[in-house]
Amino acid sequence: MVIGVPKEIKNNENRVALTPAGVAELRKHGHTVYVQVNAGVGSGFEDGEYIAAGAQMLPTIEDVYGIAEMIMKVKEPIAQEYNLIKENQLLFTYFHFASSEELTHAMIERKAICLAYETVEKTDRSLPLLVPMSEVAGRMAIQEGAKYLEKPQKGRGILLGGVPGVKPAKVLVLGGGIVGTQAARMAAGLGAHVTLMDISLPRLRYLADVMPANVDTMMSNDYNIREEVQQADLIVGAVLIPGAKAPHLVTRDMLKLMRPGTVLVDVAVDQGGCIETCRPTTHEDPTYVIDDVVHYCVANMPGAVPYTSTVALTNATLPYALQLANKGWQQACRDNAELRLGLNVVGGKIVYKGVADAFGLPLTTVDDVMTEEAVAN
Ligand SMILES: NC(=O)c1ccc[n+]([C@@H]2O[C@H](COP(=O)([O-])OP(=O)(O)OC[C@H]3O[C@@H](n4cnc5c(N)ncnc54)[C@H](O)[C@@H]3O)[C@@H](O)[C@H]2O)c1
Repeated sequence: MVIGVPKEIKNNENRVALTPAGVAELRKHGHTVYVQVNAGVGSGFEDGEYIAAGAQMLPTIEDVYGIAEMIMKVKEPIAQEYNLIKENQLLFTYFHFASSEELTHAMIERKAICLAYETVEKTDRSLPLLVPMSEVAGRMAIQEGAKYLEKPQKGRGILLGGVPGVKPAKVLVLGGGIVGTQAARMAAGLGAHVTLMDISLPRLRYLADVMPANVDTMMSNDYNIREEVQQADLIVGAVLIPGAKAPHLVTRDMLKLMRPGTVLVDVAVDQGGCIETCRPTTHEDPTYVIDDVVHYCVANMPGAVPYTSTVALTNATLPYALQLANKGWQQACRDNAELRLGLNVVGGKIVYKGVADAFGLPLTTVDDVMTEEAVAN
């Protein structure tokens, strides 16, 4: 298959969909890979490394879209890219269709095959192409939290791990899923005293088993949260209720109970945030202060560490990309139910219920679009 990797043009996006290692793997299976000049620079990969791995470099984004059967990207196409997309071209990337009706209509009109990273789903309902970014954000939450606890950053002026003779900081993590687990482990590794809350008792049992000794687990409820926020130096919001807005676990009145300089990192900001006073911020201006409490609410945290994020993402996407390249999308989706759930828009038809429901548009089944394709060919 002919695969194309354009340079991401969305504002501040430095990730790239394929590393030189990924190129080498696709080449090994007999595929041709075209990479746009400078596509990997933001993530620390030079053109020379892609060439050495067997890629052919193309100067413009038009060249890449013009030649490729499968486009591998990171972010959804933006308006400038719509007209470059060809009928029946396979696009493998994050789309988040339900948050953009314009994008949905554009992809229907282009009659592309849109396979979305975020809806590829395993039988245990986990989302293997979202997990790596949660892992990055969870770990980063502690790195950022530690930084903003410093006095010049308006924090309490406390070192997470303390020093001999001085107590460590207290970290409260709300939500013990991927983000919360990674955050708790990071904070514990730095020597902080961590309290990890979740509403799932089986999950808390598991976490109590696997977490280091300086992590306590606790049932998440209003009473316990109200108690704990009074002692915490750093609070990380990491809850998720699939398909719903995050619940406001830390309410505005609780800020008054916190000590001045407490830092809140609301990783769940992309789902509305689990801290009532959270509003989305950017890497350029990541924090603001309310009631002497520092709020860090960056909606795309992994964007600040593009090298780590790119490698983590491509480690997860490459096995799926190989299946698509080796078999073509129809056969790959027939053979692999995880991949099939990634299909969102195919040949002008919506095939993912969440997207059709979001905009009240008609839903077609994957079987129907595959039959139509087979007849057409
Ligand atoms: N800001 C960013 O850059 C960024 C990056 C990645 C993920 N995220 C977001 O981080 C959030 C967490 O993602 P995840 O991958 O860890 O999800 P996850 O599904 O793995 O974990 C969520 C956890 O929250 C728990 N939970 C639900 N309601 C709760 C409550 N009331 N109290 C305590 N815990 C509760 C669930 O039981 C689950 O264990 C999501 O909103 C995700 O979109 C943000």
